[in-house]
Amino acid sequence: MSERYFDDSWKKTVYCGRVGPQEEGRQTVLNGWIRKRRDLGGIIFLELWDYTGTVQVVFNPEDTPEVHELAKDLRSEYVVAVKGKVRRRPAGTENPNLPTGQWEMLAEDLLVLSPSSPLPFEMSEVDRVDENLRLKHRYLDLRRPKMQDNLRVRARAAKFTRDYLVGNGFLEVETPILTKSTPEGARDYLVPSRVNPGEFYALPQSPQLFKQILMVSGCDRYFQIAKCFRDEDLRADRQPEFTQVDLEMSFITETDIIGLLEGYVKGLFSEILSEEIETPFLQLTWKEAMEVYGSDKPDLRNPLKICDLDPVFSGGSFEPFRKILSEGGTVRGLWVPGGASLSRKEIAELEERAKGLGAQGLAAFQIKSGELKGPLVKSLDETGRQRLLERSGLSEGDALFVAAGKWASTCSMLGTLRLEIASKLELVDRSSWAFLWVRDFPLLEWDDEEQRWCAMHHPFTAPHPEDVAFLEKDPGRVRSRAYDLVLNGSEIGGGSIRIHDPAMQERVFRVLSFTAEQARERFGFLLEALSYGTPPHGGLAIGFDRLVALLCGCRSIREVMAFPKTAKAQCLMSGAPSEVEGKQLKELGICISRGQGQA
Ligand code: AMO
Repeated sequence: MSERYFDDSWKKTVYCGRVGPQEEGRQTVLNGWIRKRRDLGGIIFLELWDYTGTVQVVFNPEDTPEVHELAKDLRSEYVVAVKGKVRRRPAGTENPNLPTGQWEMLAEDLLVLSPSSPLPFEMSEVDRVDENLRLKHRYLDLRRPKMQDNLRVRARAAKFTRDYLVGNGFLEVETPILTKSTPEGARDYLVPSRVNPGEFYALPQSPQLFKQILMVSGCDRYFQIAKCFRDEDLRADRQPEFTQVDLEMSFITETDIIGLLEGYVKGLFSEILSEEIETPFLQLTWKEAMEVYGSDKPDLRNPLKICDLDPVFSGGSFEPFRKILSEGGTVRGLWVPGGASLSRKEIAELEERAKGLGAQGLAAFQIKSGELKGPLVKSLDETGRQRLLERSGLSEGDALFVAAGKWASTCSMLGTLRLEIASKLELVDRSSWAFLWVRDFPLLEWDDEEQRWCAMHHPFTAPHPEDVAFLEKDPGRVRSRAYDLVLNGSEIGGGSIRIHDPAMQERVFRVLSFTAEQARERFGFLLEALSYGTPPHGGLAIGFDRLVALLCGCRSIREVMAFPKTAKAQCLMSGAPSEVEGKQLKELGICISRGQGQA
Protein backbone atom coordinates (compact mmCIF):
# COMPACT_ATOMS: atom_id res chain seq x y z
CA MET A 1 0.00 0.00 0.00
CA SER A 2 1.41 3.43 -0.89
CA GLU A 3 2.03 5.90 1.93
CA ARG A 4 -0.93 8.07 2.82
CA TYR A 5 -0.38 11.81 2.58
CA PHE A 6 -2.34 15.04 2.89
CA ASP A 7 -4.26 14.84 -0.37
CA ASP A 8 -7.53 16.60 -1.20
CA SER A 9 -9.57 13.96 0.61
CA TRP A 10 -7.98 14.99 3.94
CA LYS A 11 -8.74 18.70 3.66
CA LYS A 12 -11.09 19.94 6.36
CA THR A 13 -14.74 20.38 5.45
CA VAL A 14 -15.30 22.61 8.48
CA TYR A 15 -13.19 24.44 11.09
CA CYS A 16 -13.15 22.72 14.51
CA GLY A 17 -14.84 25.57 16.34
CA ARG A 18 -17.62 25.81 13.75
CA VAL A 19 -18.93 22.25 13.91
CA GLY A 20 -22.70 22.50 14.34
CA PRO A 21 -26.10 21.17 13.25
CA GLN A 22 -25.20 21.55 9.56
CA GLU A 23 -22.66 18.69 9.98
CA GLU A 24 -25.07 16.34 11.81
CA GLY A 25 -24.95 12.87 10.26
CA ARG A 26 -22.60 14.09 7.52
CA GLN A 27 -19.26 12.68 6.47
CA THR A 28 -16.87 15.36 7.78
CA VAL A 29 -13.12 16.02 7.79
CA LEU A 30 -11.37 17.98 10.55
CA ASN A 31 -7.78 19.30 10.62
CA GLY A 32 -6.14 20.61 13.75
CA TRP A 33 -3.91 20.30 16.78
CA ILE A 34 -4.58 17.92 19.65
CA ARG A 35 -5.18 20.08 22.67
CA LYS A 36 -6.10 17.23 25.00
CA ARG A 37 -6.30 13.45 24.84
CA ARG A 38 -8.15 11.30 27.34
CA ASP A 39 -8.41 7.53 27.43
CA LEU A 40 -11.60 6.55 29.26
CA GLY A 41 -12.03 2.83 29.57
CA GLY A 42 -10.73 2.16 26.09
CA ILE A 43 -12.58 5.02 24.40
CA ILE A 44 -10.21 7.81 23.36
CA PHE A 45 -11.43 11.41 23.39
CA LEU A 46 -9.53 14.16 21.63
CA GLU A 47 -10.02 17.87 21.95
CA LEU A 48 -9.10 19.03 18.46
CA TRP A 49 -8.12 22.70 18.15
CA ASP A 50 -7.77 25.28 15.43
CA TYR A 51 -8.01 29.05 15.73
CA THR A 52 -11.82 28.94 15.68
CA GLY A 53 -12.08 26.73 18.76
CA THR A 54 -12.11 23.07 19.79
CA VAL A 55 -14.36 20.11 19.12
CA GLN A 56 -14.48 16.62 20.59
CA VAL A 57 -13.44 13.62 18.50
CA VAL A 58 -14.20 10.09 19.74
CA PHE A 59 -12.29 6.89 18.87
CA ASN A 60 -14.26 3.79 19.75
CA PRO A 61 -12.30 0.49 19.72
CA GLU A 62 -15.42 -1.47 18.83
CA ASP A 63 -16.40 0.58 15.74
CA THR A 64 -12.95 1.22 14.26
CA PRO A 65 -10.31 -0.93 16.01
CA GLU A 66 -7.44 -0.05 13.64
CA VAL A 67 -8.00 3.69 13.84
CA HIS A 68 -8.39 3.41 17.60
CA GLU A 69 -5.02 1.67 17.72
CA LEU A 70 -3.45 4.58 15.83
CA ALA A 71 -5.07 7.08 18.19
CA LYS A 72 -3.32 5.48 21.16
CA ASP A 73 -0.02 7.06 20.04
CA LEU A 74 -1.38 10.58 19.75
CA ARG A 75 0.08 13.24 22.05
CA SER A 76 -0.52 16.90 22.80
CA GLU A 77 -0.09 19.30 19.88
CA TYR A 78 0.23 16.59 17.22
CA VAL A 79 -1.31 17.83 13.98
CA VAL A 80 -3.88 15.44 12.56
CA ALA A 81 -6.63 15.06 10.00
CA VAL A 82 -9.67 13.02 11.04
CA LYS A 83 -12.57 11.73 8.99
CA GLY A 84 -15.84 10.65 10.48
CA LYS A 85 -19.47 11.48 11.14
CA VAL A 86 -20.67 14.28 13.39
CA ARG A 87 -23.40 13.47 15.86
CA ARG A 88 -25.17 15.09 18.76
CA ARG A 89 -23.41 14.18 22.03
CA PRO A 90 -25.36 11.65 24.12
CA ALA A 91 -27.64 13.30 26.68
CA GLY A 92 -25.76 14.27 29.82
CA THR A 93 -22.36 14.46 28.11
CA GLU A 94 -22.80 17.90 26.52
CA ASN A 95 -20.35 20.65 27.45
CA PRO A 96 -22.25 23.92 27.91
CA ASN A 97 -18.97 25.88 28.14
CA LEU A 98 -17.95 25.04 24.59
CA PRO A 99 -19.67 26.51 21.50
CA THR A 100 -19.40 23.05 19.89
CA GLY A 101 -20.30 21.36 23.19
CA GLN A 102 -23.44 19.73 21.77
CA TRP A 103 -21.48 17.89 19.10
CA GLU A 104 -18.78 15.30 18.59
CA MET A 105 -17.19 13.47 15.71
CA LEU A 106 -17.06 9.69 15.68
CA ALA A 107 -13.70 9.06 14.08
CA GLU A 108 -13.52 6.63 11.17
CA ASP A 109 -10.05 7.41 9.85
CA LEU A 110 -7.00 9.28 11.08
CA LEU A 111 -3.90 10.71 9.44
CA VAL A 112 -1.08 12.02 11.62
CA LEU A 113 0.27 15.00 9.71
CA SER A 114 2.94 16.04 12.14
CA PRO A 115 4.03 14.94 15.63
CA SER A 116 5.06 17.41 18.31
CA SER A 117 8.12 17.31 20.53
CA PRO A 118 7.33 17.20 24.25
CA LEU A 119 6.13 20.67 25.19
CA PRO A 120 8.24 23.07 27.29
CA PHE A 121 5.09 23.94 29.27
CA GLU A 122 1.50 22.76 29.59
CA MET A 123 -0.63 24.60 27.03
CA SER A 124 -3.40 25.08 29.58
CA GLU A 125 -0.97 26.83 31.91
CA VAL A 126 0.69 29.16 29.45
CA ASP A 127 -0.57 32.31 31.13
CA ARG A 128 1.14 31.19 34.32
CA VAL A 129 4.54 30.38 32.85
CA ASP A 130 7.44 32.80 32.76
CA GLU A 131 7.02 35.32 29.95
CA ASN A 132 10.52 34.65 28.63
CA LEU A 133 9.65 31.01 28.08
CA ARG A 134 6.51 32.09 26.23
CA LEU A 135 8.57 34.44 24.06
CA LYS A 136 11.14 31.73 23.30
CA HIS A 137 8.35 29.44 22.08
CA ARG A 138 6.15 32.20 20.72
CA TYR A 139 4.51 29.82 18.17
CA LEU A 140 3.09 27.80 21.09
CA ASP A 141 2.07 30.93 22.96
CA LEU A 142 0.25 32.15 19.86
CA ARG A 143 -1.68 28.85 19.72
CA ARG A 144 -3.71 30.10 22.67
CA PRO A 145 -7.22 31.38 21.97
CA LYS A 146 -6.56 34.75 23.67
CA MET A 147 -3.46 35.39 21.58
CA GLN A 148 -5.28 34.36 18.42
CA ASP A 149 -8.06 36.78 19.32
CA ASN A 150 -5.54 39.57 19.89
CA LEU A 151 -3.97 39.04 16.47
CA ARG A 152 -7.37 39.06 14.85
CA VAL A 153 -8.56 42.18 16.69
CA ARG A 154 -5.35 43.85 15.55
CA ALA A 155 -5.95 42.88 11.93
CA ARG A 156 -9.57 44.05 12.07
CA ALA A 157 -8.48 47.34 13.63
CA ALA A 158 -5.89 47.81 10.84
CA LYS A 159 -8.54 47.13 8.20
CA PHE A 160 -10.96 49.57 9.84
CA THR A 161 -8.18 52.17 9.97
CA ARG A 162 -7.42 51.80 6.28
CA ASP A 163 -11.06 51.91 5.28
CA TYR A 164 -11.78 54.94 7.47
CA LEU A 165 -8.84 56.97 6.26
CA VAL A 166 -9.25 56.05 2.58
CA GLY A 167 -12.93 56.92 2.99
CA ASN A 168 -11.86 60.34 4.25
CA GLY A 169 -9.69 61.04 1.23
CA PHE A 170 -6.32 59.89 2.60
CA LEU A 171 -3.63 58.51 0.33
CA GLU A 172 -1.58 55.57 1.63
CA VAL A 173 2.11 56.14 0.96
CA GLU A 174 5.08 54.03 2.08
CA THR A 175 8.07 56.01 3.29
CA PRO A 176 11.63 54.62 3.52
CA ILE A 177 12.96 52.41 6.29
CA LEU A 178 16.57 53.08 5.38
CA THR A 179 16.69 56.78 5.96
CA LYS A 180 18.31 59.69 7.74
CA SER A 181 17.83 60.22 11.43
CA THR A 182 14.56 61.95 12.46
CA PRO A 183 14.81 63.10 16.04
CA GLU A 184 11.84 62.06 18.18
CA GLY A 185 13.74 62.08 21.43
CA ALA A 186 15.10 58.52 21.38
CA ARG A 187 18.33 57.03 20.06
CA ASP A 188 18.41 55.81 16.48
CA TYR A 189 18.98 52.29 15.25
CA LEU A 190 21.76 52.58 12.71
CA VAL A 191 22.39 50.46 9.62
CA PRO A 192 25.83 50.55 8.01
CA SER A 193 26.06 51.17 4.30
CA ARG A 194 28.39 48.72 2.53
CA VAL A 195 28.64 50.78 -0.64
CA ASN A 196 29.31 53.99 1.29
CA PRO A 197 31.88 52.83 3.84
CA GLY A 198 31.74 54.63 7.18
CA GLU A 199 28.22 55.92 6.48
CA PHE A 200 25.00 54.85 8.14
CA TYR A 201 21.30 54.91 7.56
CA ALA A 202 19.01 55.42 10.53
CA LEU A 203 15.81 53.41 10.89
CA PRO A 204 12.94 55.90 11.16
CA GLN A 205 11.75 56.85 14.65
CA SER A 206 8.68 57.98 12.73
CA PRO A 207 7.96 59.07 9.16
CA GLN A 208 7.72 62.69 10.39
CA LEU A 209 9.84 64.50 7.81
CA PHE A 210 8.69 62.42 4.87
CA LYS A 211 5.03 63.03 5.65
CA GLN A 212 5.63 66.77 5.89
CA ILE A 213 7.46 66.67 2.57
CA LEU A 214 4.48 64.78 1.07
CA MET A 215 2.38 67.81 2.04
CA VAL A 216 4.86 70.07 0.23
CA SER A 217 4.43 67.81 -2.79
CA GLY A 218 0.67 68.34 -2.83
CA CYS A 219 -0.55 64.95 -1.49
CA ASP A 220 -3.10 66.80 0.70
CA ARG A 221 -3.92 63.86 3.00
CA TYR A 222 -1.41 61.10 3.72
CA PHE A 223 -1.52 58.05 5.96
CA GLN A 224 0.54 54.96 6.60
CA ILE A 225 0.43 52.08 9.06
CA ALA A 226 4.09 52.57 9.72
CA LYS A 227 6.80 50.63 11.53
CA CYS A 228 8.88 52.92 13.76
CA PHE A 229 12.15 52.15 15.52
CA ARG A 230 13.42 53.72 18.73
CA ASP A 231 16.37 52.65 20.80
CA GLU A 232 15.00 53.64 24.21
CA ASP A 233 14.42 52.07 27.61
CA LEU A 234 11.61 49.60 27.25
CA ARG A 235 8.48 49.22 29.38
CA ALA A 236 5.11 47.53 29.14
CA ASP A 237 3.93 50.14 26.65
CA ARG A 238 7.18 50.62 24.73
CA GLN A 239 8.90 48.42 22.19
CA PRO A 240 12.00 49.15 20.11
CA GLU A 241 9.99 48.40 16.99
CA PHE A 242 6.34 49.45 17.03
CA THR A 243 3.54 50.54 14.75
CA GLN A 244 1.97 53.94 14.26
CA VAL A 245 -1.12 54.97 12.37
CA ASP A 246 0.62 57.99 10.94
CA LEU A 247 -1.25 60.76 9.17
CA GLU A 248 -0.84 64.29 7.90
CA MET A 249 -3.20 66.84 6.32
CA SER A 250 -2.78 70.15 4.48
CA PHE A 251 -4.76 73.40 4.84
CA ILE A 252 -6.14 72.40 8.24
CA THR A 253 -6.15 73.45 11.89
CA GLU A 254 -6.32 71.48 15.15
CA THR A 255 -10.10 71.26 14.80
CA ASP A 256 -9.83 69.11 11.67
CA ILE A 257 -7.42 66.61 13.22
CA ILE A 258 -9.45 66.36 16.42
CA GLY A 259 -12.72 65.85 14.51
CA LEU A 260 -11.16 63.22 12.23
CA LEU A 261 -9.66 61.28 15.13
CA GLU A 262 -12.83 61.38 17.23
CA GLY A 263 -14.73 59.92 14.28
CA TYR A 264 -12.04 57.26 13.92
CA VAL A 265 -12.10 56.21 17.56
CA LYS A 266 -15.91 56.18 17.63
CA GLY A 267 -16.07 54.01 14.53
CA LEU A 268 -13.30 51.69 15.71
CA PHE A 269 -14.86 51.02 19.11
CA SER A 270 -18.22 50.43 17.50
CA GLU A 271 -16.69 48.04 14.95
CA ILE A 272 -14.49 46.05 17.32
CA LEU A 273 -16.31 46.19 20.66
CA SER A 274 -19.83 47.26 19.62
CA GLU A 275 -19.47 50.09 22.11
CA GLU A 276 -20.82 53.59 21.71
CA ILE A 277 -18.14 56.16 22.56
CA GLU A 278 -19.33 59.68 23.36
CA THR A 279 -17.75 62.49 21.38
CA PRO A 280 -16.48 65.20 21.47
CA PHE A 281 -13.81 64.29 24.01
CA LEU A 282 -12.87 66.52 26.89
CA GLN A 283 -9.99 68.88 26.10
CA LEU A 284 -7.55 70.07 28.75
CA THR A 285 -4.56 72.29 28.38
CA TRP A 286 -1.27 70.72 29.47
CA LYS A 287 -1.21 73.16 32.40
CA GLU A 288 -4.70 72.13 33.56
CA ALA A 289 -3.81 68.45 33.27
CA MET A 290 -0.66 68.92 35.34
CA GLU A 291 -2.45 71.06 37.95
CA VAL A 292 -5.44 68.82 38.52
CA TYR A 293 -4.03 65.37 37.77
CA GLY A 294 -0.27 65.80 38.06
CA SER A 295 0.19 64.15 34.68
CA ASP A 296 0.12 65.01 30.99
CA LYS A 297 -1.79 61.78 30.37
CA PRO A 298 -4.31 61.65 33.19
CA ASP A 299 -6.53 58.66 33.76
CA LEU A 300 -9.92 60.31 34.22
CA ARG A 301 -11.47 57.10 35.54
CA ASN A 302 -9.51 57.84 38.70
CA PRO A 303 -11.62 60.20 40.89
CA LEU A 304 -8.67 61.68 42.87
CA LYS A 305 -7.86 65.32 42.16
CA ILE A 306 -5.16 67.78 43.08
CA CYS A 307 -6.08 71.24 44.36
CA ASP A 308 -4.24 74.51 44.79
CA LEU A 309 -3.88 75.36 48.48
CA ASP A 310 -1.65 78.44 48.15
CA PRO A 311 -4.31 80.83 49.51
CA VAL A 312 -4.99 78.48 52.44
CA PHE A 313 -1.42 78.12 53.67
CA SER A 314 -0.18 81.62 52.83
CA GLY A 315 -2.34 82.74 55.75
CA GLY A 316 -1.47 79.77 57.99
CA SER A 317 1.16 79.57 60.69
CA PHE A 318 3.08 76.59 59.31
CA GLU A 319 6.46 78.14 58.61
CA PRO A 320 7.95 75.65 56.09
CA PHE A 321 4.96 76.12 53.74
CA ARG A 322 5.04 79.93 54.12
CA LYS A 323 8.72 79.89 53.24
CA ILE A 324 8.18 77.76 50.13
CA LEU A 325 5.35 80.07 49.06
CA SER A 326 7.49 83.18 49.57
CA GLU A 327 10.16 81.61 47.36
CA GLY A 328 7.68 81.18 44.49
CA GLY A 329 6.75 77.58 45.31
CA THR A 330 3.31 76.14 45.76
CA VAL A 331 1.21 74.08 48.21
CA ARG A 332 -0.97 71.41 46.64
CA GLY A 333 -3.36 68.85 48.05
CA LEU A 334 -4.44 65.45 46.76
CA TRP A 335 -8.04 64.71 47.68
CA VAL A 336 -8.76 61.02 48.34
CA PRO A 337 -12.44 60.12 48.69
CA GLY A 338 -12.84 57.45 51.36
CA GLY A 339 -9.24 58.10 52.46
CA ALA A 340 -10.23 58.47 56.13
CA SER A 341 -10.05 54.69 56.29
CA LEU A 342 -6.28 54.77 55.72
CA SER A 343 -4.45 53.74 58.88
CA ARG A 344 -1.60 55.61 60.49
CA LYS A 345 0.80 53.02 59.16
CA GLU A 346 -0.54 53.40 55.62
CA ILE A 347 -0.25 57.17 55.88
CA ALA A 348 3.34 56.86 57.12
CA GLU A 349 4.10 54.61 54.13
CA LEU A 350 2.66 57.23 51.77
CA GLU A 351 4.84 59.88 53.39
CA GLU A 352 7.89 57.71 52.80
CA ARG A 353 6.82 57.14 49.22
CA ALA A 354 6.41 60.90 48.68
CA LYS A 355 9.90 61.47 50.02
CA GLY A 356 11.18 58.75 47.72
CA LEU A 357 9.61 60.74 44.88
CA GLY A 358 11.53 63.84 45.92
CA ALA A 359 9.02 65.59 48.22
CA GLN A 360 10.17 67.23 51.44
CA GLY A 361 7.18 65.80 53.23
CA LEU A 362 3.51 64.91 53.00
CA ALA A 363 0.93 66.11 55.51
CA ALA A 364 -2.33 64.20 55.85
CA PHE A 365 -5.75 65.59 56.76
CA GLN A 366 -8.69 63.28 57.41
CA ILE A 367 -12.32 63.89 58.41
CA LYS A 368 -13.59 61.29 60.81
CA SER A 369 -16.89 61.64 62.68
CA GLY A 370 -17.18 65.24 61.59
CA GLU A 371 -13.76 66.20 62.91
CA LEU A 372 -10.86 67.48 60.80
CA LYS A 373 -7.72 65.65 61.90
CA GLY A 374 -4.07 65.86 60.99
CA PRO A 375 -0.76 67.30 62.23
CA LEU A 376 -1.26 70.64 60.44
CA VAL A 377 -4.83 71.33 61.57
CA LYS A 378 -3.56 73.52 64.39
CA SER A 379 -1.56 75.70 61.99
CA LEU A 380 -4.81 76.91 60.38
CA ASP A 381 -7.38 79.22 61.94
CA GLU A 382 -11.11 78.69 61.44
CA THR A 383 -11.15 80.59 58.12
CA GLY A 384 -8.13 78.60 56.93
CA ARG A 385 -9.82 75.32 57.78
CA GLN A 386 -12.98 76.43 56.02
CA ARG A 387 -11.01 77.40 52.92
CA LEU A 388 -9.17 74.09 53.00
CA LEU A 389 -12.48 72.20 52.84
CA GLU A 390 -13.88 74.43 50.10
CA ARG A 391 -10.83 74.23 47.84
CA SER A 392 -10.18 70.52 48.27
CA GLY A 393 -13.69 69.06 48.34
CA LEU A 394 -12.70 67.23 51.54
CA SER A 395 -15.72 65.87 53.42
CA GLU A 396 -16.67 63.16 55.91
CA GLY A 397 -14.69 59.96 55.32
CA ASP A 398 -12.11 61.55 53.00
CA ALA A 399 -8.43 62.34 53.22
CA LEU A 400 -6.26 65.10 51.81
CA PHE A 401 -2.49 64.76 51.30
CA VAL A 402 -0.67 68.07 51.21
CA ALA A 403 2.80 68.79 49.86
CA ALA A 404 4.74 71.91 49.03
CA GLY A 405 7.60 72.66 46.68
CA LYS A 406 8.23 73.73 43.10
CA TRP A 407 5.11 73.66 40.94
CA ALA A 408 6.17 71.01 38.40
CA SER A 409 7.77 68.55 40.81
CA THR A 410 5.00 68.89 43.42
CA CYS A 411 2.26 68.32 40.84
CA SER A 412 3.96 65.31 39.29
CA MET A 413 4.80 63.78 42.68
CA LEU A 414 1.13 64.06 43.71
CA GLY A 415 0.21 62.74 40.25
CA THR A 416 2.20 59.56 40.95
CA LEU A 417 0.62 59.18 44.40
CA ARG A 418 -2.77 59.74 42.77
CA LEU A 419 -2.27 56.64 40.64
CA GLU A 420 -0.86 54.50 43.42
CA ILE A 421 -3.51 55.40 46.01
CA ALA A 422 -6.40 54.93 43.57
CA SER A 423 -5.05 51.56 42.58
CA LYS A 424 -4.56 50.49 46.22
CA LEU A 425 -8.06 51.62 47.22
CA GLU A 426 -9.51 50.22 43.96
CA LEU A 427 -11.09 53.54 43.07
CA VAL A 428 -10.61 53.28 39.29
CA ASP A 429 -13.70 52.33 37.32
CA ARG A 430 -12.13 49.76 35.01
CA SER A 431 -15.32 49.20 33.04
CA SER A 432 -15.33 52.60 31.37
CA TRP A 433 -13.36 54.42 28.67
CA ALA A 434 -11.93 57.84 29.46
CA PHE A 435 -10.70 59.73 26.41
CA LEU A 436 -9.33 63.22 26.43
CA TRP A 437 -7.18 65.61 24.45
CA VAL A 438 -4.30 67.36 26.12
CA ARG A 439 -3.36 70.54 24.24
CA ASP A 440 -1.00 73.49 24.43
CA PHE A 441 2.04 71.57 25.61
CA PRO A 442 5.11 73.71 26.25
CA LEU A 443 7.10 73.95 23.02
CA LEU A 444 10.41 73.48 24.81
CA GLU A 445 11.82 71.94 27.94
CA TRP A 446 15.19 72.58 29.53
CA ASP A 447 17.58 69.63 29.30
CA ASP A 448 19.98 69.73 32.25
CA GLU A 449 22.29 67.14 30.78
CA GLU A 450 22.65 68.87 27.44
CA GLN A 451 22.34 72.37 28.97
CA ARG A 452 20.00 73.56 26.24
CA TRP A 453 16.33 73.87 25.36
CA CYS A 454 14.92 70.74 23.70
CA ALA A 455 11.66 70.25 21.80
CA MET A 456 9.03 68.67 24.03
CA HIS A 457 7.31 67.04 21.05
CA HIS A 458 9.68 67.43 18.09
CA PRO A 459 11.43 70.39 16.47
CA PHE A 460 8.86 70.74 13.69
CA THR A 461 5.92 71.63 15.95
CA ALA A 462 4.56 75.15 15.50
CA PRO A 463 4.73 77.57 18.43
CA HIS A 464 1.47 79.09 19.61
CA PRO A 465 1.06 82.34 17.63
CA GLU A 466 0.40 84.33 20.83
CA ASP A 467 3.73 83.19 22.32
CA VAL A 468 6.06 83.55 19.34
CA ALA A 469 7.43 86.82 20.70
CA PHE A 470 8.89 84.94 23.70
CA LEU A 471 10.80 82.36 21.67
CA GLU A 472 14.21 83.89 22.41
CA LYS A 473 13.35 85.95 25.51
CA ASP A 474 11.58 83.34 27.59
CA PRO A 475 11.55 80.00 25.73
CA GLY A 476 10.04 78.11 28.66
CA ARG A 477 6.75 80.00 28.48
CA VAL A 478 6.08 79.35 24.78
CA ARG A 479 3.15 77.04 24.24
CA SER A 480 3.06 74.78 21.19
CA ARG A 481 0.29 73.70 18.85
CA ALA A 482 0.75 70.08 19.95
CA TYR A 483 -1.99 67.75 21.13
CA ASP A 484 -2.02 64.27 22.62
CA LEU A 485 -4.88 61.80 22.63
CA VAL A 486 -5.13 60.02 25.98
CA LEU A 487 -7.19 56.95 26.80
CA ASN A 488 -7.42 55.54 30.34
CA GLY A 489 -4.14 57.16 31.32
CA SER A 490 -2.23 55.96 28.29
CA GLU A 491 -0.92 58.31 25.61
CA ILE A 492 -2.31 56.66 22.52
CA GLY A 493 -1.48 59.37 20.04
CA GLY A 494 0.26 62.65 19.56
CA GLY A 495 0.68 65.27 16.91
CA SER A 496 0.82 68.93 16.11
CA ILE A 497 0.36 71.71 13.63
CA ARG A 498 3.76 72.08 11.99
CA ILE A 499 5.97 74.99 11.18
CA HIS A 500 5.49 75.60 7.44
CA ASP A 501 7.59 78.73 7.14
CA PRO A 502 11.31 77.93 6.63
CA ALA A 503 12.37 81.14 8.41
CA MET A 504 10.39 80.14 11.52
CA GLN A 505 11.80 76.62 11.31
CA GLU A 506 15.34 78.04 11.23
CA ARG A 507 14.46 80.29 14.16
CA VAL A 508 13.28 77.31 16.23
CA PHE A 509 16.45 75.39 15.32
CA ARG A 510 18.44 78.35 16.67
CA VAL A 511 16.48 78.33 19.94
CA LEU A 512 17.29 74.61 20.13
CA SER A 513 20.97 75.62 19.89
CA PHE A 514 21.60 74.13 16.47
CA THR A 515 24.21 76.11 14.59
CA ALA A 516 23.30 77.10 11.04
CA GLU A 517 25.65 74.37 9.76
CA GLN A 518 24.17 71.70 12.05
CA ALA A 519 20.64 72.65 10.96
CA ARG A 520 21.64 72.55 7.31
CA GLU A 521 23.54 69.30 7.67
CA ARG A 522 20.71 67.47 9.46
CA PHE A 523 17.59 69.11 8.09
CA GLY A 524 18.75 71.02 5.04
CA PHE A 525 16.49 68.93 2.79
CA LEU A 526 13.46 69.88 4.91
CA LEU A 527 14.34 73.59 4.97
CA GLU A 528 14.86 73.51 1.23
CA ALA A 529 11.57 71.70 0.64
CA LEU A 530 9.69 74.17 2.86
CA SER A 531 11.03 77.02 0.72
CA TYR A 532 9.25 75.79 -2.41
CA GLY A 533 5.65 76.56 -1.48
CA THR A 534 4.41 74.74 1.62
CA PRO A 535 0.78 74.59 2.71
CA PRO A 536 -0.10 74.99 6.39
CA HIS A 537 -0.24 71.42 7.62
CA GLY A 538 -0.44 69.20 10.64
CA GLY A 539 -1.02 65.64 11.65
CA LEU A 540 -0.81 63.01 14.30
CA ALA A 541 0.35 59.47 14.93
CA ILE A 542 -1.59 56.90 16.90
CA GLY A 543 0.42 54.31 18.83
CA PHE A 544 -1.36 51.40 17.19
CA ASP A 545 0.01 48.75 19.57
CA ARG A 546 -1.19 50.72 22.59
CA LEU A 547 -4.62 51.28 21.11
CA VAL A 548 -5.02 47.59 20.23
CA ALA A 549 -3.79 46.53 23.69
CA LEU A 550 -6.54 48.66 25.23
CA LEU A 551 -9.13 47.20 22.82
CA CYS A 552 -8.00 43.69 23.84
CA GLY A 553 -7.93 44.47 27.57
CA CYS A 554 -4.18 43.73 27.75
CA ARG A 555 -1.75 45.41 30.11
CA SER A 556 1.26 45.12 27.85
CA ILE A 557 1.63 45.86 24.15
CA ARG A 558 3.68 42.64 23.91
CA GLU A 559 0.37 40.76 24.11
CA VAL A 560 -0.84 42.29 20.86
CA MET A 561 2.39 41.99 18.87
CA ALA A 562 3.09 38.68 17.15
CA PHE A 563 6.83 38.69 17.85
CA PRO A 564 7.72 41.31 20.46
CA LYS A 565 11.09 41.87 22.08
CA THR A 566 12.10 41.66 25.71
CA ALA A 567 13.01 44.59 27.94
CA LYS A 568 16.58 44.05 26.71
CA ALA A 569 15.37 44.45 23.11
CA GLN A 570 16.00 40.79 22.31
CA CYS A 571 13.90 38.37 20.29
CA LEU A 572 14.23 35.23 22.40
CA MET A 573 12.81 33.06 19.64
CA SER A 574 15.17 33.98 16.81
CA GLY A 575 18.05 35.07 19.01
CA ALA A 576 18.30 38.59 17.60
CA PRO A 577 20.40 40.62 18.05
CA SER A 578 23.37 38.36 17.44
CA GLU A 579 27.00 38.54 16.43
CA VAL A 580 27.72 38.43 12.72
CA GLU A 581 30.53 36.80 10.80
CA GLY A 582 33.86 38.56 10.54
CA LYS A 583 33.49 38.56 6.74
CA GLN A 584 30.30 40.62 6.97
CA LEU A 585 31.91 43.12 9.32
CA LYS A 586 34.92 43.42 7.06
CA GLU A 587 32.74 44.18 4.05
CA LEU A 588 31.10 46.93 6.06
CA GLY A 589 34.41 48.26 7.30
CA ILE A 590 33.33 47.75 10.88
CA CYS A 591 35.62 46.80 13.71
CA ILE A 592 34.12 45.79 17.07
CA SER A 593 35.86 47.01 20.16
CA ARG A 594 34.81 44.74 23.06
CA GLY A 595 33.38 46.26 26.21
CA GLN A 596 32.70 49.56 24.48
CA GLY A 597 29.43 51.17 23.59
CA GLN A 598 27.71 50.79 26.96
CA ALA A 599 26.08 54.00 28.03
P1 AMO B 1 5.14 60.42 19.21
O1 AMO B 1 6.59 60.29 19.46
O2 AMO B 1 4.30 61.08 20.25
O3 AMO B 1 4.87 61.27 17.90
O4 AMO B 1 4.54 58.99 18.88
C1 AMO B 1 3.18 58.81 18.57
C2 AMO B 1 2.61 57.67 19.39
O5 AMO B 1 3.36 56.48 19.20
C3 AMO B 1 3.31 55.69 20.37
N1 AMO B 1 4.69 55.32 20.75
C4 AMO B 1 5.10 54.07 21.04
N2 AMO B 1 4.44 52.91 21.09
C5 AMO B 1 5.14 51.79 21.40
N3 AMO B 1 6.46 51.78 21.65
C6 AMO B 1 7.18 52.92 21.61
N4 AMO B 1 8.50 52.88 21.83
C7 AMO B 1 6.49 54.14 21.31
N5 AMO B 1 6.87 55.44 21.18
C8 AMO B 1 5.77 56.14 20.84
C9 AMO B 1 2.62 56.51 21.43
C10 AMO B 1 2.69 57.91 20.89
O6 AMO B 1 1.60 58.70 21.32
N6 AMO B 1 5.98 61.94 14.50
C11 AMO B 1 5.18 62.17 15.69
C12 AMO B 1 3.71 62.21 15.39
C13 AMO B 1 3.26 63.50 14.75
O7 AMO B 1 3.70 64.57 15.20
O8 AMO B 1 2.44 63.42 13.82
C14 AMO B 1 5.46 61.05 16.69
O9 AMO B 1 6.05 60.04 16.39
O10 AMO B 1 1.27 56.08 21.54
